[in-house]
Amino acid sequence: MKLQEKIVVLDYGSQYTQLLARRIRELGFYSEIVIPKDFKPDNFVKGIVLSGGPNSVYDPNSPDISTEVLESGIPILGICYGMQLLAHKLGGEVEEGELGEYGGVEIEITDSSKLLYGVPRRIRTWMSHGDSVKKPPEGFEVTAKSLNNIVAVIENRKKNIYAVQFHPEVAQTEYGSSIIRNFLSITGMKPNWNLENYVKTKIEEIRERVGNSKAICAVSGGVDSTVAAVIVNKALGNNLIPIFVNHGLLRMNEELEVPKSLKKLGLKILVVDASKEFLSKLRNVEDPEMKRKIIGETFIRVFEREANKIEGLEYLVQGTIYSDVIESGSTGSSNIAKIKSHHNVGGLPEKMDLKIIEPLRELFKDEVRKIGSILNIPDEILQRHPFPGPGLAIRIIGEVTEENLQLLKKADRIFIDLLKDKGLYDKVWQAFAVLLPIKSVGVVGDKRAYENVVALRAVQSTEGMTAEWSNLSYEFLDEVAKKIIGSVKGIGRVVYDVTSKPPATIEWE
Ligand code: XMP
Repeated sequence: MKLQEKIVVLDYGSQYTQLLARRIRELGFYSEIVIPKDFKPDNFVKGIVLSGGPNSVYDPNSPDISTEVLESGIPILGICYGMQLLAHKLGGEVEEGELGEYGGVEIEITDSSKLLYGVPRRIRTWMSHGDSVKKPPEGFEVTAKSLNNIVAVIENRKKNIYAVQFHPEVAQTEYGSSIIRNFLSITGMKPNWNLENYVKTKIEEIRERVGNSKAICAVSGGVDSTVAAVIVNKALGNNLIPIFVNHGLLRMNEELEVPKSLKKLGLKILVVDASKEFLSKLRNVEDPEMKRKIIGETFIRVFEREANKIEGLEYLVQGTIYSDVIESGSTGSSNIAKIKSHHNVGGLPEKMDLKIIEPLRELFKDEVRKIGSILNIPDEILQRHPFPGPGLAIRIIGEVTEENLQLLKKADRIFIDLLKDKGLYDKVWQAFAVLLPIKSVGVVGDKRAYENVVALRAVQSTEGMTAEWSNLSYEFLDEVAKKIIGSVKGIGRVVYDVTSKPPATIEWE
């Protein structure tokens, strides 16, 4: 992406950091998330927002802000921890709090405020803090306090440094967007973020860069790979060759349905059926990490083999999105790091000696979906539940066999179809069936029978980092269970997974 003016969000570890960057973009201003210790202000940075975070400024290793940033003259907005850090560094006083304020708290404007311009005198805000500012630094005025008499907003209009104790980025704060908009207007930056323009510019950029060379990409029917392929197809036409590898571990009939819907989007898909190769490599393998490794490596081998057949190939398109970029490069907790490790289909680029095109690298997931709509990609693809690269192999606990795959595909299809029929599919974040490696007793006719057990999993989540199990009704679960038992020969028992993440992961392996 061409260099452009931006608002930088310094990430001090708040759970709301991404939301903050998205809010700023929604208001039409390009924003990026940066780790404080890596940040060097330059001419493109028009405003700096310090996020909240779990630390106290008195913790020995609490993240800091550099003098260079404080003295850059660029307008700054500190939020929660960001406010305390500003107060602490600029000579104010921060008080360690035992009680703090959590949840909805009313604040009142006590003095004329540039940051709160146009906001009613009293508003409800969302707070989540222990420490608070007792005395603002010199040159700062307190312009709002909470009804608990805690400093809620401070500002230094001469230096254009502002800070709020609450979270303007969350929906629970009334007038939160107005407050962020006021800060953006203080920065003097012109709005420059608009997804229609983004798509147009991206297409031109790719066309210019690639010229008449050829590019390939792997498509799975998932949101990111589809949107990336459609953008590049608009730039390169048939010089983009999207490859769909059928590893035999897809959901029922997807090997036919996915290429068909991708072709409708104008993509000239190359379908490679490698299902036998994958299945034979997975024979006798039970260990989940081993399955992932085998699938990852086989995928690369198959993909490379196809790529080598294409003359004049120079580029590889990847559907990397912005959350992948920030998670792999930054504060990410070990949990996040682990999730990402299995997202990578292992080193495609390094091995292949191709130049990389990443048309979605600057975008959040919801922005990718919006761009998908701009490009007329149907909802059936844009709203699809996430599906792991190793597919059903990690939903069959134990060895993957053709027979197990058939059982799981049938049960999973019944569950998903019923979710769709009842209008529940779009309400859960991800849902699927898992085949367990145990047999359980039942009575079929007059005889005892030992048959397979299937677990149903449905979760609510935003990005998959944490998840709550979905509260599907007993009636619905009953209908799914009866239909599976009644129509899938070989499955004798159905259970529902009521574990959240953490401690459990979304997938069973
Ligand atoms: P977990 O099971 O780690 O899953 O809670 C979080 C999200 O990641 C997906 N997932 C994977 N995606 N390759 C992938 O491409 C994998 O090996 C993999 N394992 C889990 C999972 O479906 C969920 O959406």
